[in-house]
Amino acid sequence: MYKLFFRLFFQRMDPEQAHYLAFRWIRTAARVPVLRTFVAAVLAPRHAELRTEALGLRMHGPFGLAAGFDKNAVAVDGMSMLGFDHVEIGTVTGEPQPGNPRKRLFRLVSDRALINRMGFNNEGSLAVAARLASRRPVFRTVVGVNIGKTKVVPEDEAVHDYVKSAERLAPHADYLVVNVSSPNTPGLRNLQAVDHLRPLLTAVREAADRAVTTRRVPLLVKIAPDLADEDVDAVADLAVELGLDGIIATNTTVAREGLGLTSPPDLVQETGGLSGAPLKERSLEVLRRLYARVGDRITLVGVGGIGDAEDAWQRILAGATLVQGYSAFVYEGPFWMRALHKGLAARLRTSPYATLADAVGADARKAA
Ligand SMILES: Cc1cc2nc3c(=O)[nH]c(=O)nc-3n(C[C@H](O)[C@H](O)[C@H](O)COP(=O)(O)O)c2cc1C
Repeated sequence: MYKLFFRLFFQRMDPEQAHYLAFRWIRTAARVPVLRTFVAAVLAPRHAELRTEALGLRMHGPFGLAAGFDKNAVAVDGMSMLGFDHVEIGTVTGEPQPGNPRKRLFRLVSDRALINRMGFNNEGSLAVAARLASRRPVFRTVVGVNIGKTKVVPEDEAVHDYVKSAERLAPHADYLVVNVSSPNTPGLRNLQAVDHLRPLLTAVREAADRAVTTRRVPLLVKIAPDLADEDVDAVADLAVELGLDGIIATNTTVAREGLGLTSPPDLVQETGGLSGAPLKERSLEVLRRLYARVGDRITLVGVGGIGDAEDAWQRILAGATLVQGYSAFVYEGPFWMRALHKGLAARLRTSPYATLADAVGADARKAA
């Protein structure tokens, strides 16, 4: 039904308009007690066997909403109502910024993909921190906070900008993510080079510890699928060296060649990050590489092109304790999480593994 609705309605609208409209519906539904209870009961039935513990946090399951959907933390309860087991808000930058000029979001329908060059449009760390501070949660869910660099801040002052966000947002974050992998902020991905990443992650760790003294806020880094294999290894080694809690693999790709894209060339050539089905293979490859390097020492989060329960299951077997999605949600709609959870629970039941945790990295162990 959603697919028909998508074709007749959303597909004819500008993608960003459609996003805000759907977003408004979700937020409205989450504000009405009877409605949200009903919607959550239908869309988010919980499966006890999928309960997940990661980063020292308890979750209903392993599947979260990837960053970028709820940049300003306005719909955490709404997304939880739809069944997401954790919600990663952001990317939030030190200062508010409008992002790139529209049009900046494109649907590649036949490829089940999106291209975006949003450019971190967000209300900034002060406003988002205030919103999170005053939030009265109706559903208990884990909230990750993803931070990035303000566009006008020069690269050599990037650390200060991240530190500002970390100090303001860490007190409200169940976990914190340093995003150095979005292709839409000039120079941002240079921060993935270990020489830049080491001081950045060290400073953010210290900032989070200064801001929160009653618990240790888990710190993760989110990387691009476009890193060369040896750079993936270098980030993995650095993460271990610094005692980082996790790595999120991956963000969107700037690649277009060799992905078998079937959409019209003018769409394919739009500048920005490509997400969705065509990203699946490379994201999985990066995850496998990371797991081979870090094993169970660091929590891995698999994201990029996950379309169904089988994709999510493959990420878990490859080493992901948590998985996330964004683009497929746009195409699959509100029943996506329900189907995903059902499919994951069924796979676990018929697998040789007693728990989801036992399945994490099982493929890599088998191959060894
Ligand atoms: C419109 C859009 C905006 C995004 N914005 C962000 C962002 O602000 N920060 C971030 O870390 N990732 C962002 N992402 C990347 C997603 O979090 C995710 O890593 C990527 O889309 C791959 O997952 P998917 O194939 O399931 O969409 C964005 C993705 C899309 C489609």
